Amino acid sequence: MQALDVSPDVIGRITCGTLRADHAGEQVTLQGWVNRRRDLGGLIFIDLRDRFGTTQVVFNPQVAPEAHELASGLRNEYVISVSGTVNIRPEGTENPRMATGQIELEAHAVDILNEAKTPPFYINEEVEVDESLRLKYRYLDLRRPRMQRNMLLRYGIVKAIRNYLDGRGFVDVETPLLIKSTPEGARDFLVPSSGFPGSFYALPQSPQQLKQLLMVAGLDRYYQIARCFRDEAQRADRQPEFTQLDIEMTFVDEQDIMSMMEELYSELTTTFSDKAIQQTPFPRLTYKESMDRFGNDRPDLRFGLELQDVSEALASTEFKAFAGVLAAGGQVKAIVVPGCAGYTRREIDEVTELAKQAGAKGLATIQLNEEGIRSPIAKFLSESEIGALTTGIGAGTGDLVLIVADQPTVVAKSLSALRDEFGRRLELADPNVLAYCWVYEFPLLEWDEEGNRWDATHNPFSGYYAEDEGLLDTDPGAVRAKQYDLVGNGNELGGGSVRIHNRAKQERVFALMGHQVEDQAERFGAILDALEYGAPPHGGIAMGIDRFAMLLADEASIRDVIAFPKNQRGVDLMFQAPAAVAAEQLDELGLSVQEAVEVPEVASTDGNS
Ligand code: AMO
Ligand code: AMP
Repeated sequence: MQALDVSPDVIGRITCGTLRADHAGEQVTLQGWVNRRRDLGGLIFIDLRDRFGTTQVVFNPQVAPEAHELASGLRNEYVISVSGTVNIRPEGTENPRMATGQIELEAHAVDILNEAKTPPFYINEEVEVDESLRLKYRYLDLRRPRMQRNMLLRYGIVKAIRNYLDGRGFVDVETPLLIKSTPEGARDFLVPSSGFPGSFYALPQSPQQLKQLLMVAGLDRYYQIARCFRDEAQRADRQPEFTQLDIEMTFVDEQDIMSMMEELYSELTTTFSDKAIQQTPFPRLTYKESMDRFGNDRPDLRFGLELQDVSEALASTEFKAFAGVLAAGGQVKAIVVPGCAGYTRREIDEVTELAKQAGAKGLATIQLNEEGIRSPIAKFLSESEIGALTTGIGAGTGDLVLIVADQPTVVAKSLSALRDEFGRRLELADPNVLAYCWVYEFPLLEWDEEGNRWDATHNPFSGYYAEDEGLLDTDPGAVRAKQYDLVGNGNELGGGSVRIHNRAKQERVFALMGHQVEDQAERFGAILDALEYGAPPHGGIAMGIDRFAMLLADEASIRDVIAFPKNQRGVDLMFQAPAAVAAEQLDELGLSVQEAVEVPEVASTDGNS
């Protein structure tokens, strides 16, 4: 990788990755950590490690007795400085797997710069280590090759992004982290003000309004590697603070933004991974198509298992479970799972349970065995209906058909969960492929049962198609937003929209979302006012940097591409944050705590795990 190829001239010293056969005979000094020590009675070998590589050092009692004596006391992770002569390794002892494997350093003198306690886990071996231990001793975890690789990858990605955008007229503008609480879906992190006890700043969930205001300000093309804060439940792909590549542009439409991001992401993929991009230009699916075919808005296109609608073929079925659903405006859909016809009763029950966990009331199955079909619903169906549910949707001998009848949202959720599950079980997704796609034409609004109001599906500033304007009065849920998400292998990598740039239109959307006029002025005054001072048409996007790095690094958690992440409960185990503060600090802020909840600690350990 690019970032790794640094010449010693730049570093200003010879590193543990520098030496090659043509350095033979030179006198050098190396500094680094003891990666491993082997004591062969006479000779002592040390692998000396730093970020740039590993070099074998040999201590020979005949050559340098004093250094040899000191070397016998060296332990893993000691920091040392060694001087000596670069020698070609004796024939047969070269190590082709090491960049420095042709040579070794014959030590003449060694200086112990610092000792190290035995680390709580192995740093020189790729072994599974309990994550809380890794997070508590993150500075040791980050010393491990895998994490070093991830940090460098992430740095490389960000650097390449900057290069790309700097070359296209973008300006990097920093926006404040202390702003005002705004509704963006998640809970805000609040920061109490000491100047005005009882008042709070909020940390931005994203710089959304600020970047729009920069467009009103005439900056034309803005980007920022922006930190965002969202107080929401953590998952493998979510952190309370995370990083976006945040972009906003003036006088653009959806196509301009999508094409540019497509070019950037193609470039990043080929530069930083060996994965093949499945298809360019990236396929574009409307939200409706994505929901119809895959049951979600972030489909993994590396495999099929598509949802197939069999409602029509079953329109006059006598099977009550299906007929009832269809009469109530629901649908019947199915997926064909290849090669799973032989599932046992228990396996079928297990799959049914997964469907139920995802909200389905039931799961109907058809197993197409050599001897014929096996299905609990066969006896309720006509021959042509069975045909429609098997050969009609491409199922053949050996296949298992999974069918859910329900309202469309339930069918989509449960079948997409099964699709993902079987994609994993059958290893249908090629890990060497990156399947990008755009999902666009999202609904602008969705009905919020709890709040009894419309809510933005993405953000309240998204524009909508002019031809849908009339629907705002008659059928708000049908209005299509000028919103697009970039999806990669089933991950939502980013999303954005062309914005509303007219005050009356923005107020109308806010009103549908239940914000009264006074409330709008209070919460969104700045942006509403700005829209009246010559706001140009504009749009943008924000890409999750952590998620993208995770995808390219083939990691299963974004914590593995963040230097100092929080754990699943939002706790920083290294600093033990959040933490209680002194009573005086609370007093200064005019705050009192109603009921404190203890933050769980990780036990510290001594010795190797
Ligand atoms: P959105 O909320 O879709 O859009 O966020 C954009 C991208 O940020 C990433 N992301 C996260 N990554 C890690 N942890 C999280 N908790 C997290 N939340 C989001 C995702 C997501 O696609 N202001 C709008 C963008 C715009 O309209 O320009 C926004 O923030 O990859
Ligand atoms: P029942 O008549 O409710 O005992 O259901 C008979 C079969 O139909 C069982 O295999 C159920 O799992 C299946 N079934 C019932 N309801 C649904 C549904 N909503 N979607 C799919 N299959 C269903």
